Amino acid sequence: MRTENHGSGMDSALPIAEIDFSRYHMRVSTERFTSRDYQELEREKLWMRVWQIAGRADELPEPGDWKVYTVLDQSYVLVRGRDGAIRGFVNACRHRANAFCQGSGHSARFTCPYHRWTWELDGRLIGVAMPDFRGSVEEFVGPKDELGLLPVQVEVFAGFIFLNPDMSAAPLADFLGPAAQALAAYRLEEMVPVGLNVREKIRCNWKVVIDAFQEGYHVQGVHPELVSYMDMARERFMEFGLHCACTVPFGGARSATAGPEQEVAMYRQLPAPNFPGIVAALPRFENLVALYLDGDGAPHFPAGVSARGLMQQAVRETMTARGLDVSALSDTQMSDYQFWALFPNVYLQLCPGEATVIIAAPDRDGDPNACSWHVCHYLWLPAELREEQRAELVEIPEGEHFDYFLALEQDYSQMQQQQDGLRNRAVKFMSLTRQEPRVAHFHAVLDDWLGDSA
Ligand code: FES
Ligand SMILES: [Fe+2]
Repeated sequence: MRTENHGSGMDSALPIAEIDFSRYHMRVSTERFTSRDYQELEREKLWMRVWQIAGRADELPEPGDWKVYTVLDQSYVLVRGRDGAIRGFVNACRHRANAFCQGSGHSARFTCPYHRWTWELDGRLIGVAMPDFRGSVEEFVGPKDELGLLPVQVEVFAGFIFLNPDMSAAPLADFLGPAAQALAAYRLEEMVPVGLNVREKIRCNWKVVIDAFQEGYHVQGVHPELVSYMDMARERFMEFGLHCACTVPFGGARSATAGPEQEVAMYRQLPAPNFPGIVAALPRFENLVALYLDGDGAPHFPAGVSARGLMQQAVRETMTARGLDVSALSDTQMSDYQFWALFPNVYLQLCPGEATVIIAAPDRDGDPNACSWHVCHYLWLPAELREEQRAELVEIPEGEHFDYFLALEQDYSQMQQQQDGLRNRAVKFMSLTRQEPRVAHFHAVLDDWLGDSA
C-alpha cells in the first residue's frame, strides 16, 4: 500500500517539447572546456564553495577510519570520530603545512610524520614533539587551541559524504533543495557498489563528461543499439533548483503504435549491463504476461492492461520480495529510469534498487583538457549480503584503460573526441538543441556560480 510518493514529482514533469528555453543560453562558450583561466575561476568560485561528493559513508565504518579527498590541488581528510560523526579537515599540518595523510587508513589520532605533532580525531591539537625543549607546549608553539586542524563542512546524504570547503556555506539541505526528498525515495544509503566501481583518467574536461550523460540526443549517434529501447520523444524534464532530472519511458520511437507483442519483446531484450534493475524483474514479468497468452503464445491484453503496466507490477513485486521498501516510489518510477544532474559534477541513473553514479572530477594538476571519472554501479541488497557482494574501487593506472560494457566504451571514446574538437581556436561556442535541457540547465547554473567574471 503506497502512502506518499515523494519521488513521483517527475510524473508531472514537462514533456521536453513544452520547456521554456528562453531562460537558457543555448550558445555555450567553448572556452570553458579548454582554458586554464576558466579552470582557475571554477576553482575559486565553484570548487572552493560548493557541496561536492567526497565518498561514501560506508568507506569509513569505524571510528578512526579516514580517507583523503582531493579536488584540483586541494586536499582534505575525512574521518569518522569517536562519536560516530564524519568530519573533514584540510590535509595540511598546522606546523609547516605537511600533507599529513596519504590515501586512507585507520588511526586513533592523527600524527604528522614530519615533526610528529598530534591531533585528536575531532581536530584538537593534543601533542607536540619537544625532544630538546624543557618548557611548556605554549612556550614552544604559542596557544595550542589556535593550532587545531582546519575544518571543512561535511554532511552525509543518501549514503554519500558531501564536503564543502567553505565554512560559511549554507547547509547541504539548502543546496539540495527539493532534490533531497525526490532522491531519498530511492534509498541510496542502503545500496553498495556491485560489479562496476572504477576510476580512471579521461582526456577531456570534466564538464564534457557531465554534458555527455545529461542528454539522450546522442543515443542515435553513439549508441544505435539502444535506439529501439528508449522513447526520446516522450522524455520529460524537471528542475530541482540547482539540480535537474529527466525521465524517459522504455519503448522505441514506434512505441505509440507498437502492439502487445512488440512491447513485450522490447522488455525481454533489454540489455542487462545497461538496465540490470529492470532486467532483474523479467522472471516475474514473464509470469504476469503468461496470464494473457493465446494458444500461439502471443499476448493479448484487455483494456487497462499493458506490457508497461505489467513491468511496473513486476518490478514492484520483485523489489518488495527482496526486502526493498519501494512504497515511496510511483508506478512510473517502477518502469522508467530517472536521469539526474546533481550539480556540479554528478550523474545519477536511478531505478528501484539500482543506481549508476558517474562523478567527473577536474584534473588534479589543473589540466583543463583532462579529468577523472568514477563510474560506480550500486545495487540495493539485504543488509547481510552487502559486504560479500561489495565491489572495491578499481583505480586504473595512467596509460591503461578499463574494459567497460559497450555503451560506456562508446561514451568514453566519444567524450575525448569532443574535447579534441573543443580545443580548436576557431570554434567559439556550442549550439544546444531543444533535446538538451539538462545540459542547458547545468551551464546556466554554472554561469550563476561563476558570476560576471565568466
Ligand atoms: S610539518 Fe607537521 S609536524 Fe612539522
Ligand atoms: Fe552515452
